[in-house]
Amino acid sequence: MAALQFTLQHQDAGSKARAGRIVTDHGEIQTPIFMPVGTVGSVKAVSQLQLEAEVKAQIILGNTYHLYLRPGLEILEAAGGLHRFNGWQRPILTDSGGYQVFSLAGTRKIREEGVTFQSHIDGSKHLFSPEYVMDIQRVIGGDIIMAFDECPPGGSEYAYARNSMEMTHRWLDRCLTRFNSTEDKYGYTQNLFPIVQGGTFKDLRQQSCEFISSKEATGNAIGGLSVGEPEPVMYEICEWCCDHLPAQKPRYLMGVGTPWNILECISMGIDMFDCVMPTRNGRNAMLFTTKGVINIDNKKWEKDFSPIDDGLECHTSNYYSKAYLRHLMKSKEILGLSIASIHNLAFYLWLVTEARKHIIAGDFASWKREQVEVLKTRL
Ligand code: GUN
Repeated sequence: MAALQFTLQHQDAGSKARAGRIVTDHGEIQTPIFMPVGTVGSVKAVSQLQLEAEVKAQIILGNTYHLYLRPGLEILEAAGGLHRFNGWQRPILTDSGGYQVFSLAGTRKIREEGVTFQSHIDGSKHLFSPEYVMDIQRVIGGDIIMAFDECPPGGSEYAYARNSMEMTHRWLDRCLTRFNSTEDKYGYTQNLFPIVQGGTFKDLRQQSCEFISSKEATGNAIGGLSVGEPEPVMYEICEWCCDHLPAQKPRYLMGVGTPWNILECISMGIDMFDCVMPTRNGRNAMLFTTKGVINIDNKKWEKDFSPIDDGLECHTSNYYSKAYLRHLMKSKEILGLSIASIHNLAFYLWLVTEARKHIIAGDFASWKREQVEVLKTRL
């Protein structure tokens, strides 16, 4: 089995957008791509069949932090890894737990050795070191696994961002040493992506890009964005990082964002995205559609029997009406959560697939300008 391969198929003339193809041992991914988040090995309220047939997901995410706490390594290993456990036979990427420990766990302490934290489930104490996080991700068995990093809080000052970035770099070296001295467990190749940090400071971001690029990984990620900084700052840092990361490797922007964020960042040269927004906001009645944003709780949809979105090739989006979905959400029926999540994910996959088509057709920049306006419209 082989390491991940990335082929650039087309570069847009009017922007820095790219269309490419990633090949993993669990199949191909057409880029730019959006990856639905399956925190505990399940994309909330969406079945694997729906992910394949309706959402048309090509790769999904899992979280080291959650999977380690539950079901735990013993069960994941006995199952033969996450693909066997949850039945998803396409590629899986796992985040390293760096971010989740900071956002979810109870009392935590960050030291050079690693991070000690308390489980949000039962309060038990744990230590994540870069080495242990590699071992855990070996057991989970994602096709792409992430380096252990510290994501500094939004608004961090220069000294904090610099010290944190430097520690993330030392942690990356420890991750690489452990990763390179351990084997793939399940007969297919795992790939380790390093993560750029450095807060909102361009000189730190450049240093971080140069440091992680020197590791010659099969792909690179940008972390520490969309953590409370103003949107223009997020765009500026994202573009700066894209310009300082190798062109021949996929670039993954972690945890971003709205549909318009995704289009803007594609135009800067991002190839991979993940975000909880389509599922989380969907469960809270916010729908993204090809005509704009809908709050399905709004009374205006009470007697609107038109499909949720007839602009998508998704059974769920075409079959159920806005009025019916509103009724389900108002009644707190679990089917409502499922419909909203499937629809929003199908929309995100439609968005990146259309972006790819327009990059290849050569009119991405003008298409993006029009789409950003349409997608932001409050219906
Ligand atoms: N998800 C969103 N942002 C980040 C980040 O900075 N680091 C990691 N590991 N995951 C993320």
